[in-house]
Amino acid sequence: MTNNRLTKSFLFFAVSMLALAAWTGVLLRFGFTEGMPAWASNFGAVRHAHSHLMYFGWVTPGLMALIWLFLPRYTGRPLPRGVGWQMGVTAFAALLSYPAFWINGYGLTQIGSASLPLGSMAATFNGLSWFIFVWLYVRATRGMGERPLPVRLWDWAIILMMLSSIGAAGLPATILLDVGNPMLQQFFLHLFLDLFSVGWFTMGLLGVLWATLGENDPLPDGMPVASLGILLAPTFILGMLPSLVTPAMFWVAALANLGAALLLARHLWAFFRRWSELPVLVRFGLLFGVVYVGGAIALLWPGLWRWAGGGPLRIFFLHNLLLGWVSSVLLGLILARFGRQGPGLQHPINALWMGGVGLLVLALLALGFLTYAPGDAVFWFKTAAWASVGPATAALLALVKLGIGKQASSA
Ligand code: HEM
Repeated sequence: MTNNRLTKSFLFFAVSMLALAAWTGVLLRFGFTEGMPAWASNFGAVRHAHSHLMYFGWVTPGLMALIWLFLPRYTGRPLPRGVGWQMGVTAFAALLSYPAFWINGYGLTQIGSASLPLGSMAATFNGLSWFIFVWLYVRATRGMGERPLPVRLWDWAIILMMLSSIGAAGLPATILLDVGNPMLQQFFLHLFLDLFSVGWFTMGLLGVLWATLGENDPLPDGMPVASLGILLAPTFILGMLPSLVTPAMFWVAALANLGAALLLARHLWAFFRRWSELPVLVRFGLLFGVVYVGGAIALLWPGLWRWAGGGPLRIFFLHNLLLGWVSSVLLGLILARFGRQGPGLQHPINALWMGGVGLLVLALLALGFLTYAPGDAVFWFKTAAWASVGPATAALLALVKLGIGKQASSA
């Protein structure tokens, strides 16, 4: 199996999971206005199925496949044996997480005489597959002389992923040992989910973007890498329930977040200078990166985070980052490189994705600031629900564009 063909198969898988998780998101959004159907009545569990499939099935395999694609260019060696197996295990574990969380989220499920935390077990299983990825990555990059910018970014992406896995291990431990400490549970949950998304996704994505741009022109010097990684580490505290965060914890996290955002802005600025080389969806994603930087500055406004952190503005922040920035850039890069079928589909995909995501994120912002926004809650919930159909449909069309069968055979 060639590296190219392997990459295409796993990217097709990742985009399929994006489509499934996005349609699950549509179900949740319409659930707010119409109520959830009987076959999906546990809203919290379905929400966990949605968010974990997005993390484990879409962004993680998507990033890993692209890292494996570019890595041999920097190491000068073929990929280590076992990469195909690792990607297969990662994909399988991600698939498992969907039904596991759908049934009961992070709660216990009675199976026969046993009471099992299926969601936590699936998360642990996923975490184990990432350890195999890290082990193979370390083997692949061991002994490299100077490490180019994308490799240094991936190094830090992996360090932050490993740090977040402490949360993945701690969370089931608190559930299994029945530690009734909400602070500890929140700490582990957000160490896992938020550091995973903000750390691994952001650093990994920057690396993939620079690797793509580095194919045509030399890579720039002096881009922040280690400093960005270090400052991103404590920002997961901002994901915790404000009532469980002391003022000192908040300030450490908020100032680190500001520093990280300014360093991210340095990368964004460099990307903006190469605007014409970037696919439309990547350019669109960069705009949400700017909103992310603006959000980090706004969070320093006295009281804003405590007021917004536990409420609907949290969903706006999350989707601005994960859907607007991470997913738009990742999908844009994947389609630009591998989306060769149906040339006429690119425009509808762009229009559906950008129109839907733009309107959805706007509606989430309005729901966060409902007292100041025009229109009532019902109007904005309905707008968010209908807007979400756009990216979910775009993800399905993207699968047609990737047309794996035909491309794989021509690889
Ligand atoms: C079509 C795009 C999407 C739609 C329609 C959607 C919809 C939703 C909805 C309705 C919720 C629950 C909101 C609430 O409880 O108030 C949610 C939560 C969440 N979503 Fe999405 N989402 C989308 C894309 C994404 C993406 C791309 C990611 C990650 C890569 C993501 C990660 C999350 C996370 C982490 C949560 C919070 C889960 C929790 O707190 O338990 N979503 N989403």
